Amino acid sequence: MLAMNRTNILGLAFVAVVVATIFSSCHDKRSRGLEYAPNMYYPIAYNPDQKNPIFANGISAQVPPPGTTPVGFTRFDEFPNTPEGYAAASTGITSPLTVTKKNLLEGKQLYLAFCSPCHGEKGMGNGHIVELGKFPAPPSYSTGNSSRGGAMKDLTDGKIYHTIQYGLNLMGSYASQLSPEERWKVIMYVHQLQKPQ
Ligand code: HEC
Repeated sequence: MLAMNRTNILGLAFVAVVVATIFSSCHDKRSRGLEYAPNMYYPIAYNPDQKNPIFANGISAQVPPPGTTPVGFTRFDEFPNTPEGYAAASTGITSPLTVTKKNLLEGKQLYLAFCSPCHGEKGMGNGHIVELGKFPAPPSYSTGNSSRGGAMKDLTDGKIYHTIQYGLNLMGSYASQLSPEERWKVIMYVHQLQKPQ
């Protein structure tokens, strides 16, 4: 008799736990029910996408005040994507890096990854997607002419930087793939390819 009771009580307790678990996970469709260390999911700080009563517009992710520059961000808006911006960049900016073997090697590595598919390993405009017939050949860095006028071999730091920043016609912008420092390293290597091959 006593043994029977014990089984019943255990059984009942088990059912109760199952029911409680099911119900606790049901009240909110997005909830997984039991949560381990919930303060990991619900931090005290506001999430960027969370409503925020502190600000008049009720949004946590505020637009920075006009004219501010984020830490570590390099502004380029004084050289817009216009012929004037291109000319101004040509005389207005030069590489802050010194030519070292390490910088050149890093520039080469980045160039081979991001630019050589079109421009070719030696910058002759015969990258592999050009050879496959999937892309028109860009002008050679050493012998070609820029569609904006002048020889490719004479392209300055600023003109190449402007091109990486904004792209040019069929060439897209590489601003999101290369940090300013990486761009200068690539430019250092492009200058090597502008020399007679
Ligand atoms: C998808 C192919 C492609 C890739 C990748 C590419 N380019 Fe270009 N690039 C072109 C084409 C095409 C042109 C010629 C555009 C024109 O004059 O209309 C060009 C032109 C240029 C010019 C000449 C700009 C001028 O003022 O005339 C420079 C400099 C240049 N690219 C640098 C780079 C660098 C540096 C990279 C890598 C970060 C790169 N390109 C990646 C296709 C590419």
